[in-house]
Amino acid sequence: LTMEKAQDYKELSQMAAEKIITKLSHKPEAVLGLATGSTPVGLYEALVAAYKEKRFSLAKATTFNLDEYVGIHPSDENSYAYYMNQHLFSQVDLPETAAHLPNGETANLEAACTKYEQQIASAGGIDLQVIGIGLNGHIGFNEPYTPFEQRTHVVELDKTTREANARFFPNLEAVPTHAITMGIQNIMESKEVLLLVAGEQKAAVLERLVYGDVTEAFPASILKEHPNVTIIADQGALSGLK
Ligand code: F6R
Repeated sequence: LTMEKAQDYKELSQMAAEKIITKLSHKPEAVLGLATGSTPVGLYEALVAAYKEKRFSLAKATTFNLDEYVGIHPSDENSYAYYMNQHLFSQVDLPETAAHLPNGETANLEAACTKYEQQIASAGGIDLQVIGIGLNGHIGFNEPYTPFEQRTHVVELDKTTREANARFFPNLEAVPTHAITMGIQNIMESKEVLLLVAGEQKAAVLERLVYGDVTEAFPASILKEHPNVTIIADQGALSGLK
């Protein structure tokens, strides 16, 4: 794990954006893995600002998001598809057909998982995967004790994860119970992983990631076995490290 330290969230976001811009400058047709949640909001803002300055293009790129809720339509403002359109896709030149999220709005979720795997494979795999980390160490929606070798699959969300995400919904009952997520194996197969960790509330998870063992009890721990992971963390998140 390579650690890059940012003063604050703004700097973290800018540093993450520069990684993506650099990747695109070497490989305009890069396949990017993207995440939602609070952490990458600043990254997407920084990317949109850089796009307006014509610093990069996504015209030849392809994207795959980590996950999507089950049973929420892409036009629903709580879907991850909506989030991605709002924060990034509608503001850059990524072709609509080049942006992928798992389809959580279908009767056949298993088929949706298989299709996602095929799409990732036919794009040639993911060059750079951006991820965040949950308070229980989840990556994507791979909750503790998800087998490391699992690929894109349907998950039942942890109560704690639903509670953490309830802030976006009218109440806890409205938070979906299931999601489709890339598996840990997909994240491990990505050529490069960029993990963003922001804020004091993430200090304990970052501490466990850095000092703890590799165990399915703490999904992010497997990243220690990936050859090319960069963590960008801000002061708050770094406050638990020696
Ligand atoms: C989002 C995702 C999740 C989040 C994690 C952290 O696509 O897969 O694993 O990265 O829950 O969320 P935030 O950034 O809101 O703390």
